[in-house]
Amino acid sequence: MSDLRIVPSSAPVGAVVENVDLSTALDDATFAQIEAAYAAHAVLIFRDQALTPEQMIAFTRRFGDIERYLRTHYAHPDHPEMLLISNIVEEDRNIGLADAGATWHTDMSYVKVPPRGSVLYAREIPVQDGPPLGDTLFASTGAAYDDLSQATKDLLDGRRTTHSYEGKHARRAALGKSNRKPLSAEERDALPPTDHPVIRTHAQTGRKCIYVVDGECVGISGLADTEAEPLLSDLAARCTRPEYTYSHHWQVNDLVMWDNCLVQHLAIQDYALPQRRLMWRTTIEGTAPA
Ligand code: SIN
Repeated sequence: MSDLRIVPSSAPVGAVVENVDLSTALDDATFAQIEAAYAAHAVLIFRDQALTPEQMIAFTRRFGDIERYLRTHYAHPDHPEMLLISNIVEEDRNIGLADAGATWHTDMSYVKVPPRGSVLYAREIPVQDGPPLGDTLFASTGAAYDDLSQATKDLLDGRRTTHSYEGKHARRAALGKSNRKPLSAEERDALPPTDHPVIRTHAQTGRKCIYVVDGECVGISGLADTEAEPLLSDLAARCTRPEYTYSHHWQVNDLVMWDNCLVQHLAIQDYALPQRRLMWRTTIEGTAPA
């Protein structure tokens, strides 16, 4: 039996997993304990991991196939299944996606089959006089659902909303939080608006969660826009209440993985060059939201 230890945070999501070395091939019993902790806590934190890209990719593959990110020019040069998130500029070019996660979101909720989870590994973390900058916040969409009134749960049961990638980035640009070019016609065709349930049922645990992202969702099936729009804003705001949130203060060599149904996340961009931040990200394939 492994001596792996799970230490939950004081928030509704997040747990530190101790006494495990992710660079090794985990035996099935240890992996089953990690899977169970992932289902229970939605965000797992592994400190002090020394990983090569191959080892991070192998760990991610234990959970399912790897989904590649659509903007391939930010892929790791030798590992196309790994996305670089970074503010570092080399030869006049950002080596990674610089504005990832600048507003609350869940990864790729604007595609038909969004990823089950995402894995982020800290290679360089900005610091100011000691403390780290560039925290990532994770908020429980399950706790937000649990606290809805029964009347709202009944009203939303079986209803759908439309997620729009273009809408999301237009909103981020309006807030001054995006440096991305407007979508090309090709990208627009590849990313049409997509419908998902407003209340999503977690594929592994059956837990219900609010699946609404601020600025990305439009309309609710069967409701007039005058009722749907304020309801969507309220649902999105509920998901990210401080009492549902765990804040991760990064250290180099932390690996953090999260569940894209059970949490939304936000990257705090409170640093700038010469403070450098470099993360490797892999993404686990999911199933269509139900
Ligand atoms: C993301 O949204 O995947 C990026 C999170 C981060 O860089 O902290």
